[in-house]
Amino acid sequence: MRHSRIAGVGGFLPPRVVTNDELAQRLDTSDAWIRERTGIAQRHVADPSQGSSDLALEASRRALDAARVDAAAIDLIIVATSTPDYIFPSSACLLQAKLGVKNCPAFDLQAVCSGFVYGLATADQFVRSGQAKCALVVGAEVFSRIMDWNDRGTCVLFGDGAGAVVLVAGDRPGIHSSVLRADGTQAGMLSVPGNVSGGKIIGSPYLQMNGPQVFKFAVKVLDEVGREALAAADATIDDVDWLIPHQANVRIIDATARKLGIPAHKVIVTVDLHGNTSAASVPLALDVAVRDGRIQPGHRVLLEGVGGGFTWGAVYLTM
Ligand code: UT7
Repeated sequence: MRHSRIAGVGGFLPPRVVTNDELAQRLDTSDAWIRERTGIAQRHVADPSQGSSDLALEASRRALDAARVDAAAIDLIIVATSTPDYIFPSSACLLQAKLGVKNCPAFDLQAVCSGFVYGLATADQFVRSGQAKCALVVGAEVFSRIMDWNDRGTCVLFGDGAGAVVLVAGDRPGIHSSVLRADGTQAGMLSVPGNVSGGKIIGSPYLQMNGPQVFKFAVKVLDEVGREALAAADATIDDVDWLIPHQANVRIIDATARKLGIPAHKVIVTVDLHGNTSAASVPLALDVAVRDGRIQPGHRVLLEGVGGGFTWGAVYLTM
């Protein structure tokens, strides 16, 4: 039987760091409030000259290096992003050209903060069905562009970055199970309710959300979908070596781990240094933990995403 497994992981954060204190200089907020309510100490912000495909390129190069795979071997590119370079062409096509890859399918996937988990589950289907042998799956975002930097309720939460994995075919998993869910009736809870029409922005180009509602919803569905993914693989909570939930708020992460019954020392947390990087948060956290040696080959990892749509999902895999 054909399976897919992660052969290499890479991440990229733009160099500019914005601390809570820097935000507090021009907003009615404080380092203490942001740390206490979210766990966030800083976030990275991309230079105006960098688009999502530029961040994706750096993360992809690092993932390809880690996998010891030449870019020419890539036969599928999925970029999960809600902040693409353009309306079209897709950031995945731009990334394909920047990598010098020819002919393979390339597309963006829009599931907001669940995007990477959606993308990984999708690439797994391509690999297992024999349609791809070496997929590049990227989460890349420049959420700084869709922030109202005068809205203290949202702009302190998000950051920019990209994370990537190379997913290859093999005869043992790899990815054991994936579960994807969505509920479009909850679209209004977290959105950027604008579009471009006739040369004008119609609606709002800024992120808006009901924070407390999102908080409760996230904890509930991350618990449910994590259990569903484990059950689908005939695994239990005790089998999980590492939990990597979407990195939005350390209180959401702690509450999710508590509900699932996973001890804090098995949970990867990067929201303190990255903020919420939406589709990039899970692969960036995976990259940090692989590079610092916590996640080792053979370890079993539960990845979880939740975000606008609403969308949520989990992938259970062996590294
Ligand atoms: O990827 C998914 C995306 N989003 C999320 O996961 C976010 C989920 N939600 C959250 O993380 C939290 O709900 C927030 C961090 C957004 C807010 O924390 P909270 O504990 O739910 O606070 P709140 O919204 O209930 O607001 C409490 C107070 C309010 O003041 P009043 O009305 O009590 O006087 C806010 O105006 O905190 C105020 N507040 C702030 N104060 C200082 C909100 N933002 C700030 C701020 N600095 N940055």
